[in-house]
Amino acid sequence: MKRVLSCVQPTGDLHLGNYFGAVKNWVDLQEKYSCVYGVVDCHSMTMPYKASDLRENTWKMAFQLLACGIKPENLFIQSLVPEHTELCWILSCVTSYGELSKMTQFKDKREQLEEKDNQAFISSGLFSYPVLQAADILIYRADYVPVGKDQEQHLELSRNIAARFNKQFGQEYFVHPEPLYTEIPKLLSPADPTKKMSKSLGEKHYINLFGDPNRIRKQIKSAVTDTGEASDKMSSGVENLFNLLKACGKMDAYDTLMDTYKSGTLRYGDLKGEVAEALVELTTPFSERLTDLTTRKKDVKAQIQDSSAEIRKIARQTLSEVKELVGLLNPK
Ligand code: TRP
Repeated sequence: MKRVLSCVQPTGDLHLGNYFGAVKNWVDLQEKYSCVYGVVDCHSMTMPYKASDLRENTWKMAFQLLACGIKPENLFIQSLVPEHTELCWILSCVTSYGELSKMTQFKDKREQLEEKDNQAFISSGLFSYPVLQAADILIYRADYVPVGKDQEQHLELSRNIAARFNKQFGQEYFVHPEPLYTEIPKLLSPADPTKKMSKSLGEKHYINLFGDPNRIRKQIKSAVTDTGEASDKMSSGVENLFNLLKACGKMDAYDTLMDTYKSGTLRYGDLKGEVAEALVELTTPFSERLTDLTTRKKDVKAQIQDSSAEIRKIARQTLSEVKELVGLLNPK
């Protein structure tokens, strides 16, 4: 069976954009592939953070992924598999400074930090972040990596690193990972539909996947519909509401409301009502599962420790073969 790998940083709460953009797809892929999914806490050390928040957010993300339907045996936490960081070092020696300098995400994040403070500390971890990502992928010999388009450049680099390693060490050792781009609904901020739904914009700008139903209803009710754009086109706020309905699989309601939109009789209140109920219907089982997992917190944490240890066996095997190939020694 082909292997799929993907990872997510422990950013805190999952929102609808994360769910429809990644997690839903991860859940579905589990039916067809051997899947490995990681919460990559080491990656989150590349931007300023607080140690206690990091650990809390790591568990939180792991619990939320399970609540969404990721199977526990497919889930690991990156810091529980220390081979990633060791492989990262080895791969950094077959990655050029020039390649890393071209990464747009590094430039963006650096600018973000410097905008806040022009003396900001830019860690070399932020610079070599894509090498750690390559290690995440290559260590499991992943065939497919479901990612968003924003990760295209990082994946390309992983492939180049694999090719260079194979060339230099004389074997077709690493698999060349292929991206799996899926059709992702473009979800916008309900409070400002000129922007993408995102946590970094603030609370009003994303819908929490584990949010209280009444808060979800309120957020949809107050969603901006008129953004002052040219009037013969559907406004991005209204389009966003339709996209949410479609993402929730409510095609009947979508078609009916779209017909009324086309005939000019759509009442935004009706559309919002349908969207809010679709979202509550979608998210209620997630919240219930999360509550259940949280009441068994200790056991669930132990389960994630166990699955990480099991997944680690693959990583260990790869790392010891790699160390052989590059001329390092393996400990007894
Ligand atoms: N860089 C990815 C992101 O920010 C997260 C990530 C880390 C990742 N390692 C990975 C994604 C390996 C896919 C495969 O979204």
